[in-house]
Amino acid sequence: MAGPHESGCCAQAAPGGMVAAMSEDAPDTLSPLQEAAALLRAGRLVAFPTETVYGLGADATSDVAVAAIFEAKGRPRFNPLIVHMANADSLERFVTFDARARRLAQLFWPGPLTLVLPRRADCRVSLLCSAGLDSLAVRVPRHPLAQALLAATARPVAGPSANRSGRVSPTTAEHVRAELEGRVSYILDGGPCRVGVESTVLDLTREPAVLLRPGGVAREAIEAVIGPIETLSAAADSGEALPGPGMLASHYAPDRPVRLNAATPRPGEAFLAFGKPPPGIVPDGQLSESGDAVEAASRLFAALRLLDRADFAGIAVMPVPETGLGVAINDRLRRAAAPR
Ligand code: TXA
Ligand code: MG
Repeated sequence: MAGPHESGCCAQAAPGGMVAAMSEDAPDTLSPLQEAAALLRAGRLVAFPTETVYGLGADATSDVAVAAIFEAKGRPRFNPLIVHMANADSLERFVTFDARARRLAQLFWPGPLTLVLPRRADCRVSLLCSAGLDSLAVRVPRHPLAQALLAATARPVAGPSANRSGRVSPTTAEHVRAELEGRVSYILDGGPCRVGVESTVLDLTREPAVLLRPGGVAREAIEAVIGPIETLSAAADSGEALPGPGMLASHYAPDRPVRLNAATPRPGEAFLAFGKPPPGIVPDGQLSESGDAVEAASRLFAALRLLDRADFAGIAVMPVPETGLGVAINDRLRRAAAPR
């Protein structure tokens, strides 16, 4: 855990977390950067600057660390998250780049462009980052401190904007502190963000590509490279279901019917427990033995996929209390159980 850090001119201790600036005069102790990287590797949440907005970072390969992001933000549902790395080569281990992705990456990375690409079958990034989709959003930020942090962490870092759910994105470390004090282990201060709006999100799992969110790279600049792209609304008008922001109905739904608030399984059903199962019943899956919503969130998507097997007639899920991350879990379960 981070101790008080008074070596840099701008370093400030904060209850439950800290704000630190880069300092070069602390040979006897870890630099803020090394400390932030060590915390990320230990599964903690670290807010970090990018050229667009501050991100709330977590080790993207850790289900529990990623679940903690949703809890800290107070998100009522699981929006998919952008995964950051220091360069495109490192991201090729997780997603498949086509020719369009390669050209855009070459021209705009590092920079404020996020590419939604197909997950590779052997992708080690938490399924929670994809919120159940078969795609993953990836980005290489330009900010030197983000670059240095990602290099030092040497893991993919999941990072939504570092604000509470439903509030505007933070562009200074002070904003982050106001939003997330006590909910984040460390805040790395890189000064005000240069771009100040979020990255452009481009879905390259489709042809033509779809602009899911306008942002730091202009549409025209993208079209100059890969030709005409569609906007989310134009694509939606064409009646196509899109895995876009807020369009979570299109997220992965199990093939088997899902039954909520089940006390016991019916014949043939898989039984997904939350907490102690009813006496005499051995569950087929367990969201959290101890009834911990963060752990349950971390296992949710993997559990649904695991139990979505032809030899089960359906998936019965025990009740999950509507508190904390339970709200997001239940939102997702209701979508999985909704008639299609
Ligand atoms: O500039 C940025 O993009 C900042 C910095 C920290 O990198 N991050 C950011 O993340 O704005 P967030 O979570 O606030 O917004 C990410 C957007 C959301 O609208 C989300 O729905 C979309 O990207 N997104 C992420 N993964 C996706 C996926 N696999 N498919 C479709 N949309 C995705
Ligand atoms: Mg955001």
